[in-house]
Amino acid sequence: MKILGIETSCDETSAAIVENGTTILSNVIASSAEMHAKTGGVIPEEAARQQIKSIMPVINECLERAFPGSSLKEKFENIDAIAVTVGPGLIGSLLVGVETAKTLSHVWKKPLIPVNHLVAHLYANWFDKIPEFPALGLVVSGGHTDLVYIKGHGDLTYVGGTRDDAAGEAFDKTARILGLPYPGGPNLSRAAGKYLSGGHKELIFFPRPLSNESGYEWSFSGLKTAVAREVEKLKAEGKLSEREVSHIAAEVQEAIVDSVVSKCVKAILEFGPKSFLLAGGVAANTKLRDKFTRELISNGAHASFHVPEAKLCTDNASYIASCAYFIGKDIPTSEINADPELTITS
Ligand code: KG4
Ligand code: ZN
Repeated sequence: MKILGIETSCDETSAAIVENGTTILSNVIASSAEMHAKTGGVIPEEAARQQIKSIMPVINECLERAFPGSSLKEKFENIDAIAVTVGPGLIGSLLVGVETAKTLSHVWKKPLIPVNHLVAHLYANWFDKIPEFPALGLVVSGGHTDLVYIKGHGDLTYVGGTRDDAAGEAFDKTARILGLPYPGGPNLSRAAGKYLSGGHKELIFFPRPLSNESGYEWSFSGLKTAVAREVEKLKAEGKLSEREVSHIAAEVQEAIVDSVVSKCVKAILEFGPKSFLLAGGVAANTKLRDKFTRELISNGAHASFHVPEAKLCTDNASYIASCAYFIGKDIPTSEINADPELTITS
């Protein structure tokens, strides 16, 4: 079964064709990140305008890559269903994808499957070694940090999450304070990679809130205040060098990675799942991936560790199509609406 997936929840416009939920036939991603880099963040109105321009070229390119040389009619004859992200996300952006998908579904008489973007992130793990259930899954993205227990496809229970900022948001906001370009996460991580302590013990340590509390909650909003204070202090002392920026970046990354991994390892030891699935844009972070690999082994966790290849962690339509294959319900298009407030368990 071949599903055409469409994703436009934030600033990416993506279309992918996935066979049986596990094989990517084509995956095209157009990002307006360069445009947003000029303003230091996503301007929703601008993102949606760009997506209106990109959506049909992206879908056409995706169909051409999967079925080169055939007519549009032949291409759509190969597609069994269309899947689209309905939320959460920016309303203008979501509407571009949802309305395009509804139109294509109507014109080509294909079932339309609404997909929850957060649940779908987890399905980027189905393109490699298939995870076994029960699983614990962590979605760490720009707007969410959600830990869920997954008994089977479509059977998710919320375990924990952030009380305030998401992990990706913490990367983005602290990167901005440090004067690093948008998108913050990968740029902060790059700056952190340049930091060499030179063997001295230097005194910057950012807090890991709630680390001693029971339960599975995080809090990342204090990090931006702590970073702003450190930056002010260094500025006042005339010491805000490139080296100090990379030093702070390294400590921020360490604080986020530490908090995320330690709580998840605790949950894995308590719940004893067969698999642990990491997903979402922040899962592209090398330090986070490496620390999970090491800590799961050193804590004797029996769960197999799954993380998508880095380019499938950030927003793209491949996992939208995969999720639709495993848990999608074909419902009347008139009942499908964009819902910016959708949660991982709604
Ligand atoms: O999943 P995603 O592409 O979009 C949302 O659904 O939010 O995640 C984007 C988030 C941003 O906060 C971005 O800074 C972060 O993922 N991110 C990273 C890295 N790559 C993307 N954070 C840390 N290190 C990275 N390498
Ligand atoms: Zn996402």
